[in-house]
Parts: sequence; structure tokens; C-alpha cells
Amino acid sequence: MFVKPTFADDAAIEQAVAILRSGGLVAFPTETVYGLGADARNPNAVKKIFTAKGRPSDHPLIVHLPDGSHLDKWANDIPESARKLADRLWPGPLTIILKKKSDVLSLVTGGQDTVGLRVPANDVAQKLIKRFGDGIAAPSANRFKRISPTRAEHVADELTGFVDMILDGGPCQVGVESTIVDLSTSIPKILRPGQVLQSELEELLGIEFQPAIEDVNLDRSDIRAPGMMQMHYAPLTLARLCESKDLQEAINEQTSAALKVGLLTYDYDNVHDNIPHIQLSNKANDYARDMYNALRKLDQMDLDVILIEHPPETETWRAVNDRLMKATHQNKECSGSK
Ligand code: TXA
Ligand code: MG
Repeated sequence: MFVKPTFADDAAIEQAVAILRSGGLVAFPTETVYGLGADARNPNAVKKIFTAKGRPSDHPLIVHLPDGSHLDKWANDIPESARKLADRLWPGPLTIILKKKSDVLSLVTGGQDTVGLRVPANDVAQKLIKRFGDGIAAPSANRFKRISPTRAEHVADELTGFVDMILDGGPCQVGVESTIVDLSTSIPKILRPGQVLQSELEELLGIEFQPAIEDVNLDRSDIRAPGMMQMHYAPLTLARLCESKDLQEAINEQTSAALKVGLLTYDYDNVHDNIPHIQLSNKANDYARDMYNALRKLDQMDLDVILIEHPPETETWRAVNDRLMKATHQNKECSGSK
């Protein structure tokens, strides 16, 4: 049965709350990406998330809270730094990892003694969680290892049959998943870059983070965040990252081998007949907002290869580059690129 997204007015939100209370799954918009929500206190409901996503059960879920005052219901040993970030950056695209309270379901935390918490800023998400009144466990509403959904129809395409209701709140404004900061040990770490920048966190907390973990080996058993695995957020079509200066040659190479090429660029604007080309903004936040939708569109065009122009390696582009690296990692980069 195809689940048609429901416009997220007050009546729809009431219906969504009733579904959550009865142990069902509701997909809802957040400012980052759409989430697949279940009552975080109900083990049967949480189990349905793993089935719907096809995600291994040892991968932890983020619990979405109505506001920062709920922190103490979910976390123990909360450091001052966490309170400060919650106070200054919630609601917003930031997830904080803390020691969990003993009654937090281990199903939610993937068996770990920590829990990821976030208060999303999106209006619909806020209304839904406030009306629900407690934590909603919600990963991104995509199948495991696929691109996160930034529109209600992306969720319908991927999770029909697994979700009881899809709340349509329009396109997500941030477009990439939240920044994840781990404050559960004495050494704070950023586990996933997002719109909240490392420099912003460092300034607020008056500390310096360790460099991000690069090249995490897939065989390691201590990978905590699936977002840290190399193959993630991937389109089904082969995708390659190209430096701007190599793009023209790469296009020529592919087309002379009779391969169907698509382009995703932010600066390169040469027009080629018969080559699908999505040109996104040269501003990082605007690019991020549209990136997953663009990758999905290109992915549906029956192409042999998507060539992606490598954005600048500056801090504001870090989240975008992180996701693009993961979308292209196992594929050869264009010649001449790093
Ligand atoms: O923006 C977002 O964070 C979106 C929206 C829906 O809120 N959610 C999202 O969830 O991206 P998900 O499950 O696709 O990614 C959450 C990441 C996962 O990589 C998970 O492993 C990590 O957060 N995570 C959750 N709890 C954790 C914990 N206790 N320790 C380490 N990583 C954790
Ligand atoms: Mg995800």
C-alpha cells in the first residue's frame, strides 16, 4: 500500500501523535532531513524502525526531545558543556551524545551506555514532539546506506509499506544530517560534521577538538556511528568526485566511451547537449539544502556515471564534502584529483 504524504496541519499532527502512542511509525520533517519516528520508550515500536530501514540492530538511534529541559530524563553525568550547547544551540541541527539513564532502552542505543539526543528546530517536528510529550527515536527515514530524504516524497518512494504516516512539511532547510558531538567522555569528539561547525562549538566551549577520524576501517567492530563508515549516503549509480579543472576531460573520457554521464556542479557551468547537469549554489549551506534531492534526481536518470565537482575544502563545506566522499568513496576519483 502506497503511503501518500499528509500535509502537516494540526489535525494531521494529532493523528500522528495517536499513531506514535499506539506503537506505530511516523515519518516527519526536521530542519536537517526527514526522520522515521517511533515512541522511544516502546521496544516494539523501536524494533519496527530497524525492520523498516533494514538497519543492523546494534546501530544506535537519536532520541528527539521537546526541549532541553528533558535532558535529565534521558542522560546521566551531564557535563556543563552539554548544558551550554543545549542552551545555546537547541532547537537546532546538533546531536549530543551523553551517558544514558538506566531506563533508556538498549534497543535505542544499540546496546551502548550512551544516548544521542537532539531538539529539532523545524516547526512540524516541534509541534509533533511537544504534543507527544516525550522522546521520539528517529533515524533518517531512508533505507540503510541510502541517501537521506529531504522531502516527503523521498520517504514515500523508499519506505512505503513500512511507515504508518508521512507528515509532509515541505523541503528540509538544512539538508544534511545534524552535527554529532560526543560529550560522554572527558575527550569531546565530533562524530559527524553538519551545519553547526566545529569552530562554533570550539568557541562556545573554549576547547579544541581532536582532528576528525579519517579512513575508518570498515572491518573495525567499534564503529559507533554508521555515518562514519566509508560507504554511506550512496546513490545507486556510480558517482565520482572530480576537481573543477579535471571535469571537462573526465566528461570527454566518459562520453567517448559511450557512457551516459550526469553532472553535479557548483561552479562549472559549461553547457553540454544531452548531458543532464544539475548546477547547485556556490554557497555551502544552499548547496547542502539541495544536495540529496539533486543526487536522487540524477540517480533516477539511468546514467552510467555521475561526475560531481569537488567543492572547496573549507570548513563551511565540511559536511557537504563528508557526504560526497561517502557517496563516492569506493569509486575512482577523476584523474588529477587528490
Ligand atoms: O539530522 C539528524 O541527525 C537526523 C534527523 C532525523 O534528526 N537523524 C539522523 O539519524 O541522521 P541517523 O540514525 O540516520 O544517524 C544518526 C547517527 C548514526 O550514525 C548513529 O550511529 C549515531 O547518530 N548515534 C546515535 N546514537 C549514538 C551513540 N549513542 N553513540 C554514537 N553514535 C550515535
Ligand atoms: Mg541516516
